[in-house]
Amino acid sequence: MKTIMTQIPTLILSNSLRISMKDRVSKNEVSDFKKKWCDENQIIADIISNDLSEFFVPPVLDVGAGLGDIVYNALPDKKVICIDVNNVTEEDYPLADKHERLQIDFFDYRPTQKINTVFISHTLQFLDEDVVRLNDKITEIDPQSVILVVNKNNDFMGRLVDWSKNHFENPNPEISVAGFPKDYVVDRTKEFKTTLFCDSYERLAEQISYLMLIDLVGSTKSKLIAFLKNYLPKPEFIFNQEFKIYQKDEER
Ligand SMILES: C[S@@+](CC[C@H](N)C(=O)[O-])C[C@H]1O[C@@H](n2cnc3c(N)ncnc32)[C@H](O)[C@@H]1O
Repeated sequence: MKTIMTQIPTLILSNSLRISMKDRVSKNEVSDFKKKWCDENQIIADIISNDLSEFFVPPVLDVGAGLGDIVYNALPDKKVICIDVNNVTEEDYPLADKHERLQIDFFDYRPTQKINTVFISHTLQFLDEDVVRLNDKITEIDPQSVILVVNKNNDFMGRLVDWSKNHFENPNPEISVAGFPKDYVVDRTKEFKTTLFCDSYERLAEQISYLMLIDLVGSTKSKLIAFLKNYLPKPEFIFNQEFKIYQKDEER
């Protein structure tokens, strides 16, 4: 069932169907965004390698790993378990010797070994429907650290989040989740900038629909394109992101 669903081109799905699919994205959508139009994954991998490697105590669980390219490039010598609801294979992207891949929903995952670090890069918006359930899952896995990579949603990205909320009943942009992760405290944050650059405004609108988890049907696509043309001289913009590194709150 999962495989069939994830191969349907999501742009032709209705908004309500997308929601009933719990905001699934196909591996092609993830791959197109990451490989063709946005430079974020190389930047994220470089920051981990150069600056934050010590925080990734293995074994690391990469939740919603997508291609697994971030950990492949940043943590090739550490034990990493890459999990994703999509079936990602070595034909899609290579796997480091110390890494493994599992096709599984995070909420169904039961570790068979102690996990020290849970890494969630741009996957929180797919997991945050029920924060109690999400916190319970982290409590069950019981890592020493939880490391998030999230958009800051300021500047133009903030305008886009507002635009999506004004034009769709149920957009699902990546936003901070109050109360998550429970019983953890922020140890370190690191901000960085990335660029989304497309070859047309139409393409940019499609990539934004992926980011906000909205389906551009009817006149909404032309409205978004008009909005983009109004604010951006070219079909590209820079946006802010951050690492948030949480450690278990030992005082609890
Ligand atoms: C935006 S992509 C991020 C990929 C990768 N972490 C990165 O930063 O390049 C989100 C990924 O989370 C996966 N995903 C969504 N819900 C999930 C769940 N409940 N359990 C595991 N993976 C999930 C999607 O299939 C997708 O590959």
